[in-house]
Amino acid sequence: MSTSERPRWWRDAVIYQVYPRSFADANGDGIGDIAGIRKRLGYLSELGVDAIWFGPWYPSPMADAGYDVADFRAIEPVFGSLAEVEELITEAHGQGLRIIADLVPNHCSDQHPWFQAALAGGPDAPERDLFWFRPGRGPDGDQPPTDWIGEFGGGTWTRTTNPDGTAGDWYLHLFAAQQPDFNWDHPRVRAEFEDILRFWLDRGVDGIRIDSAALLLKDATLPEVVAGAAHPFHDLDGVHDIYRSWRRIADGYPEPRALIGEVWLPDRQRFTNYLRPDELHTAFNFDFLSCAWDAAALRESIDGTLAEHATIDAPATWVLSNHDVTRVVTRYGRADTTFSFASKREGTYTDLELGTVRARAAALLSLSLPGAAYVYQGEELGLWEVEDIPPALRQDPMFPRSGFVDPGRDGCRVPLPWTGDAAPFGFSPDDATTVPWLPQPAAWKDQTVQAQTSDPHSMLELYRQAIRLRRELPALGNGTLHWLPAPDGVLAFARDPGFACVVNLSDTPVPIPPHQDKLLASRPVDGDLLPPDTAVWLRM
Ligand code: GLC
Ligand code: CA
Repeated sequence: MSTSERPRWWRDAVIYQVYPRSFADANGDGIGDIAGIRKRLGYLSELGVDAIWFGPWYPSPMADAGYDVADFRAIEPVFGSLAEVEELITEAHGQGLRIIADLVPNHCSDQHPWFQAALAGGPDAPERDLFWFRPGRGPDGDQPPTDWIGEFGGGTWTRTTNPDGTAGDWYLHLFAAQQPDFNWDHPRVRAEFEDILRFWLDRGVDGIRIDSAALLLKDATLPEVVAGAAHPFHDLDGVHDIYRSWRRIADGYPEPRALIGEVWLPDRQRFTNYLRPDELHTAFNFDFLSCAWDAAALRESIDGTLAEHATIDAPATWVLSNHDVTRVVTRYGRADTTFSFASKREGTYTDLELGTVRARAAALLSLSLPGAAYVYQGEELGLWEVEDIPPALRQDPMFPRSGFVDPGRDGCRVPLPWTGDAAPFGFSPDDATTVPWLPQPAAWKDQTVQAQTSDPHSMLELYRQAIRLRRELPALGNGTLHWLPAPDGVLAFARDPGFACVVNLSDTPVPIPPHQDKLLASRPVDGDLLPPDTAVWLRM
């Protein structure tokens, strides 16, 4: 289907997340690149997804895997060139795939020219107003301006040295020290990002994923974080005006463009405020992503999501994982199946077999709920979190910033296995001299695309069949659901016309409701009993 046939495509798309460093490496330096992605586009169109979201591809010193951007209008040379990205966009469109770029407006790299000018120009440099430079507290100014805790743990201020060598002001960074926060109260920052947005939309990008979308504004009086009081940098009301102006820009293009927010907010109503008709088109459903493998909790999350989105006619999204969180087969194989950054610890007992069985059922659940669905690369291969990466090879700043307590996010970012029996499993060409940037487990020989293709019991074939059925069945995608009567521990819902999904999260087999055919099951179903941790799609 050509990309122009579905104008409001974001309402029911299956969107595949490519993590560029780890998807496919064409030139053999151990790091994924644009040329590698272009070679593997056929894989994605065969998988049947509608759109691809690419993590940041901009020039970056990689202090936070590319989320520290040094130039928002160019491509990191390790990944390739702008010309190659333009080719990629054209080729993807030719295969009916839409392209979503990742924009990082909250902060830049400390190597960005504005920040370099702010440092080099000393205390009076006008570029300092584009960031948050403040004197320190205490008689010598050696205490940070606030005691805020950063998103990666640790403090949020780093002291600068003046050009004359004396100790200077501090600057704010909600993430790593190499990621200074922009001052969004400054008109030049707003104008710059409107221009960057147009730069990528003019190049044919169909959607923009907005990084850390709720963090852009800060309370300039710099209060401490106090429970119950307004937060100094989470979800300030004024942030909505920024997205209203972006929406006007996106709506100015003849072909439909989508704005997609990374909005982590526990309050569902504050979350859907970002999706009002003149703001973002969709946002990632972290409520669902963080939810336990538990029927009552999932039902509450699904109902809460659908009810809150319905008030403003916004499409829901269903997300099981991404490049920041524990791989789903690992999470579902643990005693605590919720996700939270605070409780992420290594060495937790994990039953990968159980996790895989549940992840298969979760795939059928999330692909049949009303709205759009996200698939993070490797989820369709059943990859697990790699937990034995030697500390010296770890790259994620979360690991050192947490005092080496949080293992960080490298374990879900390990390069994909494509073919063969040994690393690099076709990720890099056979004659590559450099090993992949993170080591792949030897056991991934059974998880490769090659090993799973045509194996009717593989995770990959389950995803392929589910996405194909989702395209064929008018009941799936956008729309509504109604719950069917079901025993405790079972989720059963119907969608019109003629479809039902039943997921058994209890520990005993349950009867499958009367139906015409079984369309697809997450594992073999004999007769009319649905085993535990199993999902089935039914024609009613
Ligand atoms: C988002 C990204 C994450 C990154 C952070 C800072 O949460 O998903 O990977 O580290 O923003 O840009
Ligand atoms: Ca490469």
